[in-house]
Amino acid sequence: MASVLILNGPNLNLLGTREPGIYGAQTLKDVEALCHETAAGLGLTADCRQSNHEGELLDWIHQAGADQAAGHLIGAVLNAGAYTHTSIALHDAIKGSGLRVIEVHISNVHAREPFRHHSYLSPAAAGIVVGFGTEGYPLAIQGLHRLASAAQS
Ligand code: DQA
Repeated sequence: MASVLILNGPNLNLLGTREPGIYGAQTLKDVEALCHETAAGLGLTADCRQSNHEGELLDWIHQAGADQAAGHLIGAVLNAGAYTHTSIALHDAIKGSGLRVIEVHISNVHAREPFRHHSYLSPAAAGIVVGFGTEGYPLAIQGLHRLASAAQS
């Protein structure tokens, strides 16, 4: 069975208690349960990971690119948190690995501080889901599944 990788970056382990007015009341565990459920409905398994370390995210993206090329993985849903706005390295990792990535943000970053308006990841992403709260994760998995299926046919 093919899988989908769900990557959450820095501070997303704090979901549920972190600025709930912006990010909502759901914990990372709740979000991951939603991802497992959505993936299962599409005949996929979800591999959910979170890291506060840029290098670890890079390593996972590199490996995921190889897994996608081998046909084991349809791609990744990536909420890189604040690294979205700072990390040329993550941009290069997505491009370099060939990983199909849907960029997700729980909040509408464009309605927030100007420093959140620029994403280094968007030019490397296959699609972007922004501002749907934690419902953005299932939406991103569904979109990724459609893109991957279209690429196969
Ligand atoms: C975020 C938005 C980022 O600007 C922020 O640094 C996060 C979360 C979101 O999901 O809305 O950590 O990616």
